[in-house]
Amino acid sequence: MKTETAPVRLADYRPPEFLIDTVHLTLNLHPDATRVSARLALRPNGEAADLVLVGDELTALSVSLDDLPLTAKQYEAGPDRLVVRNVPRRPFTLTIETEINPTANSKLMGLYRSSGTYCTQCEAEGFRRITYFLDRPDVLAVYTTHIEAPKASAPVLLSNGNLTASGDIKGTDRHFAVWHDPFPKPSYLFAMVAGDLGVIRDTFVTASGRNVALGIYCEHGKEARCGYAMEALKRAMRWDETAFGREYDLDVFNIVAVSDFNMGAMENKGLNVFNDKYVLADTETATDVDFGFIEGVIAHEYFHNWTGDRITCRDWFQLCLKEGLTVFRDQEFSSDMRSRPVKRISDVRTLQARQFPEDAGPLAHPVRPEVYAEINNFYTPTVYEKGAEVVRMLKTILGDAGFRAGMDLYFARHDGQAVTIEDFLACFHETTGTDLTQFMRWYRQAGTPQLAAEGAYDAAAKTYTLRLSQTTPPTPGQPVKEPLHIPVRFGLVGQNGADLQYERASGASVTGDVIHLTQPSQTIVFHGVSSRPVPSLLRGFSAPVRLTIDAPEADLRFLLRADTDPFNRWQAAQTLLMRALIDGTASARAGRAASIEPALVDALAEVAGNDGLEPAFRAQALLLPSEADVAREIGRDVDPDAIAAARNAIRAAIAGRIGPRLTEIADAMATRGRFSPDAASAGRRALANIALDLAAAGGDADAVARIVARYHAADNMTDRLAALSTLAAAARVERIAALEDFHARYRDDALVLDKWLALEATVPAAETLPRVRALIADTAFAAANPNRIRALVGSFAGGNQTQFNRADGAGFDFLADYVSDLDRRNPQTAARLLVNFRSWRALEPKRREKAERALRRIAQVSDLSSDTRDIVTRTLA
Ligand code: BES
Ligand code: ZN
Repeated sequence: MKTETAPVRLADYRPPEFLIDTVHLTLNLHPDATRVSARLALRPNGEAADLVLVGDELTALSVSLDDLPLTAKQYEAGPDRLVVRNVPRRPFTLTIETEINPTANSKLMGLYRSSGTYCTQCEAEGFRRITYFLDRPDVLAVYTTHIEAPKASAPVLLSNGNLTASGDIKGTDRHFAVWHDPFPKPSYLFAMVAGDLGVIRDTFVTASGRNVALGIYCEHGKEARCGYAMEALKRAMRWDETAFGREYDLDVFNIVAVSDFNMGAMENKGLNVFNDKYVLADTETATDVDFGFIEGVIAHEYFHNWTGDRITCRDWFQLCLKEGLTVFRDQEFSSDMRSRPVKRISDVRTLQARQFPEDAGPLAHPVRPEVYAEINNFYTPTVYEKGAEVVRMLKTILGDAGFRAGMDLYFARHDGQAVTIEDFLACFHETTGTDLTQFMRWYRQAGTPQLAAEGAYDAAAKTYTLRLSQTTPPTPGQPVKEPLHIPVRFGLVGQNGADLQYERASGASVTGDVIHLTQPSQTIVFHGVSSRPVPSLLRGFSAPVRLTIDAPEADLRFLLRADTDPFNRWQAAQTLLMRALIDGTASARAGRAASIEPALVDALAEVAGNDGLEPAFRAQALLLPSEADVAREIGRDVDPDAIAAARNAIRAAIAGRIGPRLTEIADAMATRGRFSPDAASAGRRALANIALDLAAAGGDADAVARIVARYHAADNMTDRLAALSTLAAAARVERIAALEDFHARYRDDALVLDKWLALEATVPAAETLPRVRALIADTAFAAANPNRIRALVGSFAGGNQTQFNRADGAGFDFLADYVSDLDRRNPQTAARLLVNFRSWRALEPKRREKAERALRRIAQVSDLSSDTRDIVTRTLA
């Protein structure tokens, strides 16, 4: 087991002492004794006399230099290192033979087996579990992969690049395939898959006329569920040509869906490997949300072909260079395929739900971290989602044309290289002349900036004065923060809802509809404003900040009804609802009932019933901030039971006032004809389901009966699951029967049962924790499968505020025990579950003390993995 090693620092980066030009890998597959031969063409790149390659749990069988076997004295091989002393000062080849056991590989890193299929996962440091290597992203080599396996059990043999040879191995029951990838790549992008798989095929002709053979591989019998992913792939390929001028570059592009996968999916060159939940979908088994995720993840991994594969990261500190940028690209793609405002709202919800708490807690780190103990733990919402926001701000600041020019230069200049954030920003500086020195702070400073706004209208002078100030709170290792360049998109909304014109603005640079806040505090005066405006700030969420403005409720209700920026209409509703929920929580703690302004409820009903707005948007407006959202906004001395009580009371009050109206709105959304997963139909379903869920909030018998009927009548998974989750969260008696029915219907479909596990785990009732324990013991629960673990344990810890945070601490103890045990088998998944403790310090003192005790118990466990050790240490620091 890999245990604690010294932290890695960005400041210590040194180029590699050797380079590897080509890699010839031969994989002789065997379930528990796979032979790997790696022939590396090496060349010195520094002064070092000794060659040091890294390994992880490896055994070396032999080592040859320029085809001469080395004696045991000429090299030192341990599980995690191979040192060859005094290598030549000229190019040479090294051939290393190792033996590995894919069946015993429960970490799912390196070469492992999933339902019998051999597959690999090498990012970030998995290649070293296959052979000794310079396993770092700045060593780019051309790979040729020779695979040998039994014909019967592994008819399909895949690797990166193009197939160059294949055939039977005479006199045996085995066959082989040779794949060659002409594009130099780092080892983390290597992949190999071998097994007995089904496939669907298609073709794509690129803009310049290249024919690409597309394949999606899956378990036999699931081929029919791959069609949506294939269509999404072709849309993504076309979109990258038009939006970024990027074409595909090999003759084949393959995707393989596997059922055991630590992450969502992986962008290996020409051979993407996917968690099957992000590939397989049909009407009966997938929800609209699933279809949307599949489209987004397929696109994300495909887009990495340029942002990640053709141009990669110099070192892992630069992870956001590929991940933040590629998330930005997949978000833009989905916005173009679906509704842009609705996509933006849902991305901002995710950012606020995942990244804001990270930035506010002990695990806060910059978008580009400067130190890490375990790189696996830096695939975070900050690197991904905040990283995408930083790219979006860059585009806002430079404008569409400036952004595209910078991207074009980036692709042209750095193709085939491993680069840094500085290299990336230099392209935008050179093409647009914009000084990005201050902007660079977004990559270096952790913490969510607080943006405060205050405005005043002077009717006599016809001026509107807006004072904006920013502060970024201290975060671990960063007590003092510098001001950032914050692009604030805005409008001054007039009485009729249109933006008011103004003659000029002073006090800040204002370009188009963007105020550039660069100082700690700036006062902007708009001259020639004809009447009192209502300011609409941070339109489209133009920067990842927390905006506070003490706008009167009437102004917010006005923006909800009238702003031309749909995002800020939604934001106004959220701000008002959040105020009600926070007040309600204070009331609940003081033993009083929570309440909500009837005027707000009526404004919500008006938006929800407004046929001039798209249904998906109206659905978002009706969706109350979650219990976790409220906890995050309260930020200290959090009592999850009080939050839940307030939220339930407010939902019941809304149902009491507009329940029948909500039912009407839902009825109007009914569609006839066959199910289609397109965005418009999905929006209608979303509005209907959210309206009915809210209508049932008070427990009204008719409303609940309607949901039960809807559950049974549903002809698609979206409606069925929506009805079931309403019952699971709200209805006591009906819940049990419905969950049982669902389980019986889908007992043979693991991906659907994950939805059931997640609902069982999020029931807000005291019996849930014992139920979760029982389900883990159930034979149906595959203890080694990350999807099952996340569905049950992840949903409990991350999605059940009252029960994970039980006042008796039993939820914390459960997670601590579970993580300590899982850590011995799958450290990466264990460490990710542990992140659910990230906001423990914000809890009220009694729960905080219990959470701390549970964390300290984990810290006491001997032999913790570096993954879990790192998270527990930082969480407690
Ligand atoms: N490169 C990552 C996959 C990865 C993550 C490998 C962490 C090793 C460690 C891939 O491109 C990715 O980002 N996948 C995401 C989904 C994506 C749509 C954001 C994932 O796996 O969650
Ligand atoms: Zn990615």
